[in-house]
Formats: sequence, structure tokens, C-alpha cells
Amino acid sequence: MESPSLNHVALLVKDIEEFIENNASLRLEMGKIEEFPSEGTRELYIGRANKTAKLLVMQAIGKGPYQRAFEKRGVGLHHIAIDVANASEFSNGLSGSGWNLHPCSLKTYKELGQIWLCKTGNPLIEVQEKQNIGDGAAFVEEVSIPFSSPSLCEALQLPTITIGPRFQISIQGNKIECDFD
Ligand SMILES: [Fe+2]
Repeated sequence: MESPSLNHVALLVKDIEEFIENNASLRLEMGKIEEFPSEGTRELYIGRANKTAKLLVMQAIGKGPYQRAFEKRGVGLHHIAIDVANASEFSNGLSGSGWNLHPCSLKTYKELGQIWLCKTGNPLIEVQEKQNIGDGAAFVEEVSIPFSSPSLCEALQLPTITIGPRFQISIQGNKIECDFD
């Protein structure tokens, strides 16, 4: 099976403009801020169009899962999105890893070819089935996550995602701590 690829790392922030201002020194290549009223979010992709592993900055602006997550856990890592060639094959390989299939997955797989993995105390994982898995240069070069168990990290089969004491990402050689609180 083709190896999974990191599509994006999604951060939940209080205010997108404030995030941009606070990280101005990194001279990040920004996309356009888009609003998704049905999802209750404003979103901004960071990283060149031709790169994989983008940074997605999300701000909750209305009722929905993102606002609930923000009220519960505040700012920080919300989810990691990976692309796989075959989502059901990938999820079969997760047994014993500790990941659970989020109940919304039945609906999202049918509609979008997407499943969600969850485990209390860990970021959500968005798994997107794709025919052509991106193999270009990664914008987010490394991600370190305080997973509650090594098997959760290993099951993702992504060498650029590692288990570490703090949530940290590496962009253009800069290590950025993302535990904002
Ligand atoms: Fe996402």
C-alpha cells in the first residue's frame, strides 16, 4: 500500500489576524481567509500551493464542532489530516492501536471519502482517501505531538510525525511551539 502523506495540520486560534501578526517574523506564505458559515469557521491555509503538509489556521465564528472544541479546550492543535490510497484498508490496520473511528465517519466517508479517528486527550485525525497522494515538498516539515501512547503515533505511518513532550511544528527550519496557553 502507498504510504500516507500529511495533508495539513489544523490549529484552532482565537483570531486569525492576531495569529498572523504574532507570527509575522516567519514571513509565512499565506492563502486567502475563507469563511464557511455552515461549518461555523473562518480558515486560512499557510504554505505554497505546490507544497504538501500545509498549516491550516481555523477560527470558530458560529455554532458547530469547532466552537465546541474551542470552548472545551481553547486554542491549539485541533486535527491532523492525512491522505491515504484506501481508507478502509488503512482503518483495518489500526486495530489494537488505540484509535477509535469517530461516529461521524459513516456519513463523511459516504459523502467525502473521509474518516475521522479519535481518542480522548489526543488530536483528531482526518483521513482522506485520495487517488493521487501528494509527494511534493512539505511545508510543515515535522510535527511533534504528546500522544498518550506510542501506538497512536506509529499507526499513522508518517515518519514526520513523532511523539514528544509538547506540541511543536517545524516550518522552514523554525521550530514553533503551538501550546499557546
Ligand atoms: Fe481538515
